[in-house]
Amino acid sequence: MVQFLCLIYSLLLGALTVNAVFIEDAFISDWQLENIGRYECVMEDQGQQNLIILSDYESNTLMSFVNETSGTIIFRYPLDFKAIDAMLLEDRSAYVLKDLEGNAYLFDASNGFLLDDKISVETFVSSCIPHSSSVIISNNTLKFMDQDSQLEISQVPLRENFESLKFLYHDNLGSVKFLYSTDDYQYFFESFENGVPKNQWHRDEVVSDVCSFTFVDIPNEALLSKKSELLAEQEFTNVWDAYTYRVSQNWGRFKGFLKENNYSPGKIIMRLMKMDSHSLNYSSDVEFGLAKYLIVASKKGQLSAIDVRNGSKVWQRQTSLEDTIFMDNLSKKSQIISFDKNGSYEIYDISNVTEPVLARKDRVEISSINLISKLGENKYLLQSGNDIKKIFCLGGCVDEPITTVLATHDKKGVHGTIVKSDYQMQDTWEITMSESEEIVAFAKKGDEPISNIGVTLGNRTVLYKYLYPNLASYVVANKKTGNIYVHLVDTVTGELLFSQFHDEKVDIYSPVNMVFGDSWFIYSFFSNEPIPEQRLVVVELYESLHADERVTTASEHYDPFRAVNKPFTISNAYYFPEVIKRMVVSRTKYQITLSAIILELTNGQITYLSKALLNARRQPEVKMTDSDKKEVMAMPYISTLPLNDQFIITHSRALLMGETAELISVATNLESTSIVCDIGHDIFCTKLHPSGQFDTMSPSFEKGKLLATILGLFVLSYFLRPMVESAQLKTQWLVRS
Ligand SMILES: *[C@@H]1O[C@H](CO)[C@@H](O)[C@H](O)[C@H]1NC(C)=O
Ligand SMILES: *[C@@H]1O[C@H](CO)[C@@H](O)[C@H](O)[C@H]1NC(C)=O
Ligand SMILES: *[C@@H]1O[C@H](CO)[C@@H](O)[C@H](O)[C@H]1NC(C)=O
Repeated sequence: MVQFLCLIYSLLLGALTVNAVFIEDAFISDWQLENIGRYECVMEDQGQQNLIILSDYESNTLMSFVNETSGTIIFRYPLDFKAIDAMLLEDRSAYVLKDLEGNAYLFDASNGFLLDDKISVETFVSSCIPHSSSVIISNNTLKFMDQDSQLEISQVPLRENFESLKFLYHDNLGSVKFLYSTDDYQYFFESFENGVPKNQWHRDEVVSDVCSFTFVDIPNEALLSKKSELLAEQEFTNVWDAYTYRVSQNWGRFKGFLKENNYSPGKIIMRLMKMDSHSLNYSSDVEFGLAKYLIVASKKGQLSAIDVRNGSKVWQRQTSLEDTIFMDNLSKKSQIISFDKNGSYEIYDISNVTEPVLARKDRVEISSINLISKLGENKYLLQSGNDIKKIFCLGGCVDEPITTVLATHDKKGVHGTIVKSDYQMQDTWEITMSESEEIVAFAKKGDEPISNIGVTLGNRTVLYKYLYPNLASYVVANKKTGNIYVHLVDTVTGELLFSQFHDEKVDIYSPVNMVFGDSWFIYSFFSNEPIPEQRLVVVELYESLHADERVTTASEHYDPFRAVNKPFTISNAYYFPEVIKRMVVSRTKYQITLSAIILELTNGQITYLSKALLNARRQPEVKMTDSDKKEVMAMPYISTLPLNDQFIITHSRALLMGETAELISVATNLESTSIVCDIGHDIFCTKLHPSGQFDTMSPSFEKGKLLATILGLFVLSYFLRPMVESAQLKTQWLVRS
């Protein structure tokens, strides 16, 4: 029995592993923009191979080694202190970094190893300010002067938006190298040997401090023409006219197709037979919603559009908004809106996807905004520092005959608010924390589509999910006791529906995360007892724990202001082998695909776990009945979740994300595929198929062979049929052939 179960378990795990990205896909469907940030100090190593660049990262310093020939990053290493100055030793074999307290650290200049800390330096001469008496910069040109005569020897033009020189080297042998920045965070390196250009490269650091972002679909031109045809069809009062119109349109398209192929049957057949390898690229990407732009706003107001398929930059534009706090995609109008903390906003028209145009600029009367959330199409909730809430509707609020309920939270409490039809807001309920308590994680149930209202058990009975939509869960940490409390509330009434707590000496300074699915929530924390370990806890909500028992009916309306039935819960806790920094649930178009929980780990990698593994109903093998084992993807409970190398979607990359990064999953038009991006100091995006690519054909799919086989079978059956018929006739007449 045990062997059998182990076999089933390993087969299931195997089946789940099938959807991993294998080596041929790695680094093709995913990309990373590795950033350094603002260059504070640039030095060169002894062998003149690498540039050592210091930049700010979080509140400390990032030390990066960059190949001087190509400009590629060799490695980046975040230091655990902030270096305020640096000095390269005379022979350039090592350098000294000084921190705020005046401590000095010695690093090897060829490999960045720490050689000595707390050394004493007698005379500290900064190597960060490039200076030379024989070089002057004026009118965006770098001029080399003769020391004695003060006459110009040569000059190099710089970019128009030159900002400052970051690095300069020149010797008497005719070798010149320099690196400078421009005001849009581009860094240009040039080197010359005896007046002849040698190396030139440039690094783009504009997206190293993203404060807000949004995704924009590239519009599908083919659909636009079909859309206008469908609209024209609706104009007809007579069905017959509409039908003839459609037929004529399709006939026109067919004629166009024939003409495109020069009316040559050979060409048409070739075109039909060929697997559309080229159309697999652009047009199908647009059609399947894989072609998106990620539009990011950086701290100093640059807006950049990045192609989600390959990470290339499509356009960049300077805006007048600094520190933008929120961006949204007004998809109906192909516009994007961007807000800053002061309430100023700008709307850009992006109907021409390569050239954004400023369409409008205005401001909302509210100061120091903390948070903006989207309430609906063109409707936003603005929350300001002094707990003022305001609803802003783009183009004016239109009264709607409905009341909406909002649940907002901060560190010290959860608040319920009712928005009346005239957009007046009224506070309804509040949950406040005591002195030593703090909300460390919060998750609201989203409005994603629900594909399945129950879970089918092994004996073909159904457990009904608890699908009440107004739910929020949160984690409260008690700093004194180290306990955490997990609560589930009804966001309409504030009623507590479920709670549980953990007294396993939770480390409240390591990340606590929470995500909400359709009828479950998952949270993660790090506990110190019984052993220091990362925990993942799943709570599933059901209408009833008895199979085939349903409390609500689809036809009945429920008034959430009256008592709603409470959920029944099942919970399971798991250990996870790595520390989890951030967590998000995969989103697909219809949520039919089994969800995956995407985890960013503190070691700079991203992995995912199928929801089938993170199941609250997994129980120890001895307790499983025969019918339990028949349930789809049922697995016995094993306390440790596996961390399989094939599920590391970042492959061998190391991400440097920072504390404020955001992990996000966006749906595409392919139900199997979700785009996952992590946006912080670096930007990383990939495509995820939580249940395999069930709706895409592999590129090796041979349409030609399939068509040929079908054709062959037709021909074969044409010849076989008379043979079979004659054989049948002969048997009826008992004639031997
Ligand atoms: C730097 O880049 C050049 C050109 O790509 C390459 O030939 C060289 O080996 C690289 N150097 C190091 C130290 O990686
Ligand atoms: C916000 O507004 C104030 C005064 O109106 C202005 O001084 C400040 O620069 C603005 N800040 C931003 C980020 O636009
Ligand atoms: C089906 O299985 C569930 C879970 O094991 C059990 O609670 C239920 O009683 C079973 N129903 C029938 C009809 O056997």
